[in-house]
Amino acid sequence: MGVCIRVPATTANLGPGFDTFGMALSLYNTLEVDWSSGNLQIDVTGDGADLVPVNKTNAVYRAMQIVFERADQTALLEKRGLYIRIHNAVPVTRGMGSSATAIVGGLWAANELLGHPLSVDELLNLAVQLEGHPDNVAPAILGGIVVSGIVKEKAYAKRFSPPPGMKCVVAVPDFQLATKTSRKALPPAVPHGDAVSNVNRVGLMVAALMDGNLEMFCDLMEDRLHEPYRTPLVPGMKEAIAAAREAGAMGAVLSGSGPALIAFCRDGAAAIGNALQSGFATEGIESTILHLQPAE
Ligand code: HSE
Repeated sequence: MGVCIRVPATTANLGPGFDTFGMALSLYNTLEVDWSSGNLQIDVTGDGADLVPVNKTNAVYRAMQIVFERADQTALLEKRGLYIRIHNAVPVTRGMGSSATAIVGGLWAANELLGHPLSVDELLNLAVQLEGHPDNVAPAILGGIVVSGIVKEKAYAKRFSPPPGMKCVVAVPDFQLATKTSRKALPPAVPHGDAVSNVNRVGLMVAALMDGNLEMFCDLMEDRLHEPYRTPLVPGMKEAIAAAREAGAMGAVLSGSGPALIAFCRDGAAAIGNALQSGFATEGIESTILHLQPAE
């Protein structure tokens, strides 16, 4: 019997929590996987479908292959073959965790197909190894807001429920920015005061999550470790964030490594969306606004 799963978009960092905080969003890629008659067949529809390879280099297939290897079932994979259908709703290479959906989707689907040989913790560790950082794959697996890190080569992750009443407005500009490029813009060292500011804020944001305190969580979102260095890669970012705050956003930050921006509010989401869009427009950048919720 086949497997059908959906994997959420994710927004990483949430301001100061670089490579640490991530949140699942109510936008999903779907993945259907079944045994085929010996061959590999991959069909892709939705965002960026033309760019996704439909052979053994496909990211979903590669993730599935790793689970088969770990479960000592590679021969079964070769013999039976797979039929994989992917539908992408998450914008590709925009800072919304599209690559994490492929990795997590592949790992999870293979594990289901084989009757759960691997634990969730093993899947998380494999996902982190494949992605290179934990803050998209961890919330894609666990849902909610996740605090994660890699310590002594092991992935740690703790899930929190999103603070009640949180609404998310995402502005997706009409250009792509690869995570690799966006990470290259980061300096090898940062001023001590900037590191302290981020440590303070991340610690306090965890406290806010424990209390379900949306105001406190969003109040702490200023970042000094990555956003200042990435601003030149995202024309209109500064203007859009300022406009969103002016329009009443409780917090507005770069989503993951960008170029999408995400703003948070209880009310007034429509005005915040318009503000983000007009901020990008000052630099001639068109953007699409998505009104989303945190995903449990
Ligand atoms: N923490 C990662 C980064 C997330 O900011 O590079 C990438 O989506």
